[in-house]
Amino acid sequence: MLAAERQRFLEDYSRIRQAEGRGSDDPAYYLALPYRDLSGRLASQWSIRGRTYRYFERHILPRMEGETRRPLDLLDLGAGTGWMSYRLALRGHRPVAVDILTDPRDGLGASAHFLARLERGFPCIDSDFDRLPFPDARYDAALYNASLHYSADYSKTLAEARRCLRPGGRILVFDSPVYRLREHGEQMRRERHQQFLAQYGTASDHISSIEYLDLATIAALAREIGLIWRVHKPWYGLRWHLRPWKARLKRARPPSRFWILEGKLIDR
Ligand SMILES: C[S@@+](CC[C@H](N)C(=O)[O-])C[C@H]1O[C@@H](n2cnc3c(N)ncnc32)[C@H](O)[C@@H]1O
Repeated sequence: MLAAERQRFLEDYSRIRQAEGRGSDDPAYYLALPYRDLSGRLASQWSIRGRTYRYFERHILPRMEGETRRPLDLLDLGAGTGWMSYRLALRGHRPVAVDILTDPRDGLGASAHFLARLERGFPCIDSDFDRLPFPDARYDAALYNASLHYSADYSKTLAEARRCLRPGGRILVFDSPVYRLREHGEQMRRERHQQFLAQYGTASDHISSIEYLDLATIAALAREIGLIWRVHKPWYGLRWHLRPWKARLKRARPPSRFWILEGKLIDR
């Protein structure tokens, strides 16, 4: 991302996030994430985020831990405040939080709340996830939590993650909107830009983030990057799971799904 592009993205992004009421003056707010939103402002969103992370902790991470039998070297890409790196560090792993946002409430600056609680902290790196300042084959997994869909070019973003991963390493994608069909993702994108323009005075389209994943793209990325996907579908409650049916009855666009994509690198 060029410096000017990055600046415009950060201005837009921060404006929207502030208007949404992200962040808090209370350190306890950060320490409770993702399981509880002590501000109460985005509680339903964090309830989903918490369920995704709990699923990862219970069903995916133990398998990864069993394979290596040592602390994992993990990249938390688009880490935001670094809450996930904190959780992983508490579990004894060695995360690195990477983001282009250094804001003290919503970006890497907020990691101070976590670092104050840890005996051994974690590095916070101000960097674009398309150009990582890390050596080849150094990490066990690259984790994108609600961040991969900000990429403007998934092939480029994931190829850069692959470069940093050890053979057999993993790429994990959490909480990025997934649609079966591309046209539904494109429709969501248009609706979202219109809504942002009306509500915040910016369409937030200064960098060409893709904003969603679709099945054809997911399959193409497996071939291109050289990985095999395993798709996990956490349970987010009955209301959430009835959304596609409701949309069908209303003849509306299908809602996004939040599947966890677990990609395991294959040799090539
Ligand atoms: C919705 S937030 C998610 C933050 C955090 N992972 C979480 O779960 O709360 C998306 C994050 O991706 C970051 N991001 C977007 N594009 C990026 C890029 N090219 N390189 C690094 N970070 C990026 C944003 O700055 C933002 O902090």
